[in-house]
Amino acid sequence: MKLNCCFKSLVIGAIALALPMTSVAAQTPILIKFSHVVAVNTPKGQAAEYFKKLAEERTKGAVKVEVYPNSQLYKDKEEMEALQLGAVQMLAPSLAKFGPLGLKEFELFDLPFIFDDYAELHKVTQGPVGAKLLKKLESKGLMGLAYWDNGFKVMSDNKPLRNVNDFKGHKMRIQSSKVLDSQMRSVGAIPQKMAFSEVYQALQTGVVDGTENPPSNLYTKKMYEVQKYVTISRHGYLGYAVLVNKKFWMGLPADIRAALESSMKDATEFANSVAKKDNEDAMAAVIKSGKSEIITLTKEERAAWRKTMDKAHKENIGRIGADIVKEVYKATGYKP
Ligand code: LMR
Repeated sequence: MKLNCCFKSLVIGAIALALPMTSVAAQTPILIKFSHVVAVNTPKGQAAEYFKKLAEERTKGAVKVEVYPNSQLYKDKEEMEALQLGAVQMLAPSLAKFGPLGLKEFELFDLPFIFDDYAELHKVTQGPVGAKLLKKLESKGLMGLAYWDNGFKVMSDNKPLRNVNDFKGHKMRIQSSKVLDSQMRSVGAIPQKMAFSEVYQALQTGVVDGTENPPSNLYTKKMYEVQKYVTISRHGYLGYAVLVNKKFWMGLPADIRAALESSMKDATEFANSVAKKDNEDAMAAVIKSGKSEIITLTKEERAAWRKTMDKAHKENIGRIGADIVKEVYKATGYKP
């Protein structure tokens, strides 16, 4: 009886202690800083804004999402470190930027000509390989919530790139991926790793001759204004994984996390529904601007790019992991 009475007062005491915290929590929303490097009017930029809207609505203001686009807060490398340290809570880096974290498997997405279209890509991002890769993030203190699409890359340069020999000696900006390094070397180019925020100026000042990116990035960052030629090659894919700091995410109240998960699900559907059209519209705008000459490859020319760039597959299968690459080949039908 006595014990029961003590227990009761302990419970009441604990509730009393918890109460001020609850009211403080109600006043001070949980902050999610979402940092990214691209413009707002890109598939990633728009999806980040949409996630913010849904997350704030569905948590009834208990969560506040601050989106920082255009490398405002951090550049490529720093943003990964900031996430691991908990200085930001959410990112959506390109899948080509996971190698430096020690997660080389993600570079399979950079293999040239691996996906013919979005349907083939989704077999991987929405299949067992995609899930396996996201799981690997946990060893780095991170969690992968989703894959967000961007698009298929074009090559831009100050000289026309039509035949594989045209790349010889050209300095080409790449993201931090060994596969992309191999891809550029396979055609005789000199790859230069560089943060996205520095690309426009590097092109403008001639630090590099050219680059690769989906039309959406080429257009929104005005790269086409400082490049004489754009080759519609669709030689590779660029897309994202949405990452959170694991400790932060797992420390959230379960109902809040559930609301954020449902917001992420819908933001992902949104991202993946606008990516194709955004890239088509961006390419149309680049063409319409008349600032750079557009090169369309013939079937034979494109086949020659594919054959030469296959070297990047051979050189990196061991690095990415033979089993996982074979699984992707099976899913997409890529034949070396
Ligand atoms: C790049 O660095 O070219 C891209 O990864 C930028 C982005 O996030 O789309």
